[in-house]
Amino acid sequence: LDNGLMRTPPMGWLAWERFRCDTDCEHDPKNCISENLFIDMADRLSEDGWKELGYVYVNIDDCWSSMERDEQGRLQPDPKRFPGGIHKLTRYMHDRGLKLGIYGDMGKHTCGGYPGTPMEKIEIDAFTFADWEVDMLKYDGCWSNATEQEQGYPLMSKALNATGRPIGYSCSWPAYQGGLPPKVNYTQLGEICNLWRNYGDIQDSWDSVLNVIDWFSKNQDVLIPAAGPGQWNDPDMLIIGNFGLSMDQSRAQMALWAIMAAPLFMSTDLRTISSGARSILQNKIVISINQDPMGVQGRRILKEKNGIEVFWRPLSSNASALVIFSRRNDMPYRYQTSLSKLNYTTGSYKIYDVFTDKTMMLKDSTDFVVSVNPTGVVMWYVSAPAKRNFLQFYKGGKL
Ligand code: DGJ
Repeated sequence: LDNGLMRTPPMGWLAWERFRCDTDCEHDPKNCISENLFIDMADRLSEDGWKELGYVYVNIDDCWSSMERDEQGRLQPDPKRFPGGIHKLTRYMHDRGLKLGIYGDMGKHTCGGYPGTPMEKIEIDAFTFADWEVDMLKYDGCWSNATEQEQGYPLMSKALNATGRPIGYSCSWPAYQGGLPPKVNYTQLGEICNLWRNYGDIQDSWDSVLNVIDWFSKNQDVLIPAAGPGQWNDPDMLIIGNFGLSMDQSRAQMALWAIMAAPLFMSTDLRTISSGARSILQNKIVISINQDPMGVQGRRILKEKNGIEVFWRPLSSNASALVIFSRRNDMPYRYQTSLSKLNYTTGSYKIYDVFTDKTMMLKDSTDFVVSVNPTGVVMWYVSAPAKRNFLQFYKGGKL
């Protein structure tokens, strides 16, 4: 969507995967969906070095609203859990250089059973969100059929635009249509949405992450052309920092989300996150690969019988990123290859290993061996090949 927003994949925090629809503030005050949770996360984002790295969205998901609209037919937050109201929360974010995202649903109800935003409510709700100075909307699709979605998703895009406030627009539409053409029209999605969920919900397990990776890789030829500045495929939240992933698996999720040019929405408790998980999420080079200004989504270039898969993403300044991923479950695997086997052209390349901070020079033709941990990755930032210098030409008698 060409609204000037999200020229690189959006980054921030989203409540759903970690905090779900916990509304029991009486017994679980620290974890329930309430203004305190979003204030706590905003404090962590702005005080623990996240914001500077680009993690600026603080996004509400389902279960925030009251069961009833107000007298004027507007959505309103649950008064017990959001006593200050949403506008106060957006001001809290804006005062700290953060942004607030909110959640709505195309059907009569949200997936969690709260009031939805069906066709006839689209305009009033878009207006309410803009009135609250919200910065992003995730528009879910429960309780709506294909015909309603076909009208509703473009209509919401128009309605948001008509408010005059720049609001990032995340569409769950394709996820409800199986994510593939002919049902899904990616050209249209790119015109009306800034990002879209293509596939099912991520859960807190490695199985779930693998499942997402496999679906996106299998369908990459359809998905890659859809992505670019202002329009992104969304493989769903980062679950790093929770309970389901080892450190190697966390690095794998981070690396592959960067290759996929995916939105980076963490869904974890930033108040208690381990330093290991934090350093993965705060890895500057992985983030810069994810945020590359060219905005070309990467691809799986190799799927070996031995369980090794290689992913590659072209980056600006003729650089690229490589991820060597092991699906094996036995032990670190010594994978032997060369840059020319990975489609690199003749030359000498500077390699930066993103997770070990090591640098080396590598000629395209030289075979090398990398050791890849089970369910882990090795990730490289590969600089443009060094130019053969003048002296070489001169000595060679060419000049
Ligand atoms: C389905 C979405 O795909 C999830 O990300 C989340 O928003 C839930 N609905 C909320 O009910």
